Amino acid sequence: MMCRRCFFLVAAAFLLHGFGAPRRCSAAPAAAPPSGSCSAAATCGKINITYPFHLRSDGFCGYPALGLDCVDGNMTVLRLSTNNNTVLTINYPTRTMFVVDSGIHRAGSECPTVAHNVTVAPGSGVQFTTADASLTFLVGCAGGGDALLPSPQCLNGSAPIGCDLSGVAGERSYVFRGATATAGALPGGSECARSCRGGTVTMPVYAALFDVPSLSNLSTSYGRVLKNGFEVSWDTSFDARCGLCESSGGWCSYNRTSVASGGGALAFGCVCPDGRTRPSDCGSKRALVYDYMPNGSLERFIFSNHSDDIKSLSWGKLFEIAVGIARGLEYLHRGCNTRIVHFDIKPHNILLDENFCPKISDFGLAKLSVQKESTISIGVARGTVGYIAPEVFSRQFGVVSSKSDVYSYGMMILEMVGSTRNTNDSNWESSSDEFYFPLWIYDNLDQYCLDASEMAKGAGELVRKMIVVGLWCVQVMPVGRPSMSQVVEMLESDMKDLQLPSKLMASHSES
Ligand SMILES: *[C@@H]1O[C@H](CO)[C@@H](O)[C@H](O)[C@H]1NC(C)=O
Ligand SMILES: *[C@@H]1O[C@H](CO)[C@@H](O)[C@H](O)[C@H]1NC(C)=O
Ligand SMILES: *[C@@H]1O[C@H](CO)[C@@H](O)[C@H](O)[C@H]1NC(C)=O
Ligand SMILES: *[C@@H]1O[C@H](CO)[C@@H](O)[C@H](O)[C@H]1NC(C)=O
Ligand SMILES: *[C@@H]1O[C@H](CO)[C@@H](O)[C@H](O)[C@H]1NC(C)=O
Ligand SMILES: *[C@@H]1O[C@H](CO)[C@@H](O)[C@H](O)[C@H]1NC(C)=O
Ligand SMILES: *[C@@H]1O[C@H](CO)[C@@H](O)[C@H](O)[C@H]1NC(C)=O
Ligand SMILES: *[C@@H]1O[C@H](CO)[C@@H](O)[C@H](O)[C@H]1NC(C)=O
Ligand SMILES: *[C@@H]1O[C@H](CO)[C@@H](O)[C@H](O)[C@H]1NC(C)=O
Ligand SMILES: *[C@@H]1O[C@H](CO)[C@@H](O)[C@H](O)[C@H]1NC(C)=O
Repeated sequence: MMCRRCFFLVAAAFLLHGFGAPRRCSAAPAAAPPSGSCSAAATCGKINITYPFHLRSDGFCGYPALGLDCVDGNMTVLRLSTNNNTVLTINYPTRTMFVVDSGIHRAGSECPTVAHNVTVAPGSGVQFTTADASLTFLVGCAGGGDALLPSPQCLNGSAPIGCDLSGVAGERSYVFRGATATAGALPGGSECARSCRGGTVTMPVYAALFDVPSLSNLSTSYGRVLKNGFEVSWDTSFDARCGLCESSGGWCSYNRTSVASGGGALAFGCVCPDGRTRPSDCGSKRALVYDYMPNGSLERFIFSNHSDDIKSLSWGKLFEIAVGIARGLEYLHRGCNTRIVHFDIKPHNILLDENFCPKISDFGLAKLSVQKESTISIGVARGTVGYIAPEVFSRQFGVVSSKSDVYSYGMMILEMVGSTRNTNDSNWESSSDEFYFPLWIYDNLDQYCLDASEMAKGAGELVRKMIVVGLWCVQVMPVGRPSMSQVVEMLESDMKDLQLPSKLMASHSES
């Protein structure tokens, strides 16, 4: 297969991110920074600490705000302005971590006291995720007779805490649930806290574990819920210097000596893959490749009025192109230090060279995924309708991530397959409500492959593979979709090992 060995170049790699700098992915997959000038990975207890985190006491390679403490040699602590948090897990691929307020962590699960709000300030390097909800406590309300307690309106939607939360006998405390990590507002307004010595305290909790105890059970189980911690994602976009360095394949680092001596501004250095430290980035302008594409974009071959063009692409060639694009996306998602989510995978943006090797172009919409995936902000709907994953429109489907590209990829290869049909319903447009090709092909797979086999010997297998993979990719929920590397695996595996997804995507009108 010719395209397998194409080196994948990134054309026109100007990013939306605002750096205006050429992007160059190092060919090696995301790796730890070179040792020496940059600290290698460290561990604290069960937590692996690596870029962009670092131990405050140790190295200083990574984002300044993402320094961690290792307490007692086994407890990793993330400091926030409001509190210290014990790190439970760090998930580097998804750029998320679970943490729990250190006070809560140390306390027994029966009746931990809640004394402070837990919030994350802008610029703190981390932020809550949509997986978080909150508990708001009304702490230490006077107990000298019901008249002194908050009014029933104030307590609407609350459960009384079944223990002495404030530590003062006779005082009562109440817990409310909030839908987001910061939803601390009491139903009755701030005057409700007047008769409560401890005031209100809002703490984030992990929402998935939140529905388990009913409100009344929360009276006794709030400690358990709090101890499960909450999720934060790390946001590295606030440090433009690091972003620029990373986008050129480097790792940002700070001079420990000048930090220790407290000498004003941190001395910044970009540690490059060759091990050298440079003042801003590793970029060599020559890395930017504007490729000349002799054969134009894939679109031309898919939606062509020139029937010769499409006929010139055999099933085998289309399959090669599908694999090539999958490899290209895998490369973009996985092979770079800072992952890219392209957001606009469509035939128009796939360029074919003279060997019909695909190259992905148009990074106008690409976004450096240096932020946690769920926090990629979609100001305006990006991409092209029909190729856009449902979650880009509506959070109810999940978070925007590299899986959004997988969806676009799936739509595109289904379209590549569909566009070669000889039938009269080839007026399929992905935006058309009446005819949704993925649904149609799901029901007509066997017949379709049979037809393809008749058109070209041996084509049935390739067509079936593309369709099955495409259908997996357009699953409506991101978690149901394979990753790009799984897509490559599927395309290269034996058809016998591939199964149709059992459930099909939701109807198209939902997206
Ligand atoms: C930490 O890193 C080591 C070595 O790379 C690895 O074997 C281990 O599974 C990692 N632990 C976690 C919790 O990721
Ligand atoms: C962590 O270290 C402390 C003191 O060194 C020890 O008492 C504690 O049991 C350790 N905890 C774990 C989970 O290893
Ligand atoms: C976090 O812990 C450190 C070290 O124990 C302490 O100096 C600091 O005050 C704590 N921060 C907060 C907000 O409690
Ligand atoms: C927590 O935050 C709320 C709202 O900002 C505030 O009214 C309350 O006083 C804070 N509680 C504490 C203990 O600081
Ligand atoms: C409690 O709140 C619900 C809506 O959240 C409202 O329907 C109900 O009337 C309220 N009850 C009282 C006693 O205020
Ligand atoms: C909630 O409490 C009730 C009794 O009050 C109990 O039957 C039920 O199992 C509890 N549910 C959970 C999830 O703990
Ligand atoms: C770090 O800063 C100190 C003093 O500011 C300087 O002497 C040293 O050369 C610097 N180190 C590096 C690696 O730049
Ligand atoms: C195809 O031809 C029709 C009629 O000649 C024209 O309206 C349409 O724009 C053409 N489409 C493309 C993609 O060139
Ligand atoms: C693709 O480009 C090559 C080289 O320019 C040319 O020979 C070939 O005819 C082109 N194929 C099509 C279908 O345009
Ligand atoms: C599709 O069918 C319609 C009538 O049903 C006919 O007018 C049209 O020419 C056909 N188009 C193709 C491409 O066969």
